[in-house]
Amino acid sequence: MEHHVKQPRWILHRTTRWHSLLHDAAIILRPRLSWRYLLVSTVVIYISYCFIRGSPLFASKLPAYTGQHEVGTIDLEIPLKQPRLISNTQFKDGTGPAFQVETVLFSLYYPAIKGAKAHKRHTWVPKPIALRAEGYAQAIHMNNFITRGIFTFGLWVVVGGIEIPAKVDVPILGTDDEKNHDAYPVMVFSHGTVASRTDYSNYCGELASRGYIVAALEHRDGSGPATNILSKQKKERKIFHFGESHLRSDPPMDEPQLKKEQLAFREAEIEETIAVLRRINAGEGPDVYKHNLRKEGHCLHNWGDRIDLNHLIIGGHSYGATGALQALKAGPNSTSIPAIGGVALDPGKSSGPLNHKVDVPLLVVHSDSWSAKYSLFEGRPHFDTVRDLVDSVLDRVGAGWFVTSLKTSHPSVTDAPLIEPLLLSWTTGASINVYEGLREYVKVTSEFFEYLKTGERKGILAEEITHPEYGRDNRTEDRKESMGKDITKYWQIHVAPPAE
Ligand SMILES: *[C@@H]1O[C@H](CO)[C@@H](O)[C@H](O)[C@H]1NC(C)=O
Ligand SMILES: *[C@@H]1O[C@H](CO)[C@@H](O)[C@H](O)[C@H]1NC(C)=O
Repeated sequence: MEHHVKQPRWILHRTTRWHSLLHDAAIILRPRLSWRYLLVSTVVIYISYCFIRGSPLFASKLPAYTGQHEVGTIDLEIPLKQPRLISNTQFKDGTGPAFQVETVLFSLYYPAIKGAKAHKRHTWVPKPIALRAEGYAQAIHMNNFITRGIFTFGLWVVVGGIEIPAKVDVPILGTDDEKNHDAYPVMVFSHGTVASRTDYSNYCGELASRGYIVAALEHRDGSGPATNILSKQKKERKIFHFGESHLRSDPPMDEPQLKKEQLAFREAEIEETIAVLRRINAGEGPDVYKHNLRKEGHCLHNWGDRIDLNHLIIGGHSYGATGALQALKAGPNSTSIPAIGGVALDPGKSSGPLNHKVDVPLLVVHSDSWSAKYSLFEGRPHFDTVRDLVDSVLDRVGAGWFVTSLKTSHPSVTDAPLIEPLLLSWTTGASINVYEGLREYVKVTSEFFEYLKTGERKGILAEEITHPEYGRDNRTEDRKESMGKDITKYWQIHVAPPAE
């Protein structure tokens, strides 16, 4: 009894304060028809909806893969035995050489055994998020405590909750089955500018779910927003986007020279990735795991003879496509990059000159906007330069395709349209359903893998030229009638071998 009577004053205060707060809230929440009220309630309802569905705010989740296999993923960052100095260019701030490969970082995507339990998923923005945020702050030349905080929070709210739907570090398919020890064909994939190893996770994971291994690189050439180089002995080194003005060289750095050094750096990273894959395939998985600075890969001991390095493709998008073409210069007989095929998605334009000396089968896919938008490149229309490049490969090798994926835009093959479908279609003009668009990219890539393995031309690769120029249909009426709608709806074919 005593208790009730002698209530401390602060409780009393609090209750009345709460009462008046609730009263105010009731007034605020009373439905009415003002634009502000509608706006606020829409936002509140939307946030609650996302919260209940467990989906990230303002962005969509990444969809599950659609192929016949489950997908595993492993992040590997492996130090080189000796750092490789690519050029003498130094950072102006005195932090050392700008182009020295110390470690190579990539995500492996692969077919995984059914129903394996994963202990974690990778987030789509590689952790730590604060690193990426600092990269953006750096990009607008306002890298300070406050902007870093705001960007970190913003990233966390908008995309921080997005996970890549591949299972981390689960056994490769066939581990539990003595008879099924196939080796899977493999692609080393190189990203575009302002991207990282996770930006093409859907394309890579979809290929893995169809029985291919993809090693998606993260380049440390200053073209990405932010990346960190780990080391057992030293503090981690952060690399943010950099340009000519950050570099000191003799003669002073200009754009063409920067591209040249970046592409050489990327090529070295591709070589080192292949060297790691070779070690894993040779049964040195446990040793690779031991040296992995990202501490994943405890199942790699089961990977002996599981990577089919005789069917190695170099692939890339944008700057990465230009880099992939450059890496193919080594030729199929080289020991460092013994690729037997190349997949270049939107090569060239501002990403530097293209290597024309490709002596292996080549598939070049343009997005619609890449083909439609006229631009000069190497002194000629970009489209013509690319067509001649593929024509010359076709002449020498007998296998070259140049096709345009209709209604897509430059980022259509990245994860961006899956995560922000509306934003992307408004800003880039892609009108294709984003799932369909990506599925076509995956389909043509697996058809190319199949061609390299069996020599058989299927799907779009079985067709002849439909449009020698972008938009100029030269098919006969008969052919228009007989061609599958699933091809004409999505593709224009500019270069292809004559039908068999
Ligand atoms: C690769 O080596 C094989 C066998 O020695 C040879 O026939 C072929 O012409 C070489 N290819 C290239 C592109 O050099
Ligand atoms: C369409 O153009 C290609 C390339 O110039 C050519 O090889 C093909 O014969 C043409 N087809 C028709 C039906 O004219």
